Amino acid sequence: NMGRKFVVGGNWKMNGDKNTIHEIITTLSNGPLDPNVEVVIGIPAIYLAYVQSIVPDNLKVAAQNCWKVEKGAFTGEISPAMIKDVGSEWVILGHSERRTIFKETDELVAEKVAHALATGLKVIACIGETLEEREAGKTEEVVFRQTLPLIAAIGDNWDRVVLAYEPVWAIGTGKTASPAQAQEVHAALRNWLVSNASPAVAEAVRIQYGGSVTAANAKELAACPDIDGFLVGGASLKPEFVDIVNATM
Ligand code: G3P
Repeated sequence: NMGRKFVVGGNWKMNGDKNTIHEIITTLSNGPLDPNVEVVIGIPAIYLAYVQSIVPDNLKVAAQNCWKVEKGAFTGEISPAMIKDVGSEWVILGHSERRTIFKETDELVAEKVAHALATGLKVIACIGETLEEREAGKTEEVVFRQTLPLIAAIGDNWDRVVLAYEPVWAIGTGKTASPAQAQEVHAALRNWLVSNASPAVAEAVRIQYGGSVTAANAKELAACPDIDGFLVGGASLKPEFVDIVNATM
C-alpha cells in the first residue's frame, strides 16, 4: 500500500463504563499490538480524561465528535480545544450516526473538520453510502459528494487526516463489505482525489474501511491495496480488537 502506515481506529460509540474501560485498556496494554500500526481509540467524551490517564503511549485517544468553535454558549457540546486540553490528539467526525441520527450535513461536518484541524487535532473523517444509495448505483456519487466539502476544509493539512469509508449498510449489521466491494470504493475515491485534491494527497492519504470488521475478516480486507486500516465499532470493545490491529502482521 505505497508505504502508507496502517491505522486502526476503535470507535466505542456510546459504550463502556469505568470498569469495562479499565478491562479494555488492560487487554490492549497487554496486546501485544503491532508496533508498525497506528492505533486510535474513540472514547465517549465524558471518559476522555480518564482514559488519557491510563493509556499506554502506543494508544492514541480520539473524541467521537466536537463542535466547530473554541468555546461559548453551546450547551452540551465539547470543543477541539477541550479535547486537546485533556491530552487527546484525535477526533472522529462525520460518522454516519452523527449524520443520520443527529442530522449533520456535509457542510457542518466540513466546518467541524476545519476547526478541529485549525486547533491542531488529527481527524478521522467518515463517509459512506446507505443501502438504498448503493442499490441505486449512487455509491461513488455519494462518497464524492460527502468528500468534496472536506477538501476545502482540510486545505494543506492532509497529513493530519484519515478518511474512513464506512458503508452504512455494513455498520453494526454483520454484513461486511467484501474485500472487492471495499477495494473498489477505496480505489475510486483515491483516484477522484488525484484530480480533486492532488496526486500527492491521493497517494499519501490513508483510507480506513469500517463496517462489521472482525478478527475473522480483517486479514483479507487488509490485504487490499487501497485499504490502509480499519475503523472498528463493536469488535473494538472485545479482545479480538488486538487481532484486528495485528491483521497485517
Ligand atoms: O465507526 C465504526 C463503525 O461504525 C462500524 O461499526 O460495529 O459495524 O464495526 P461496527
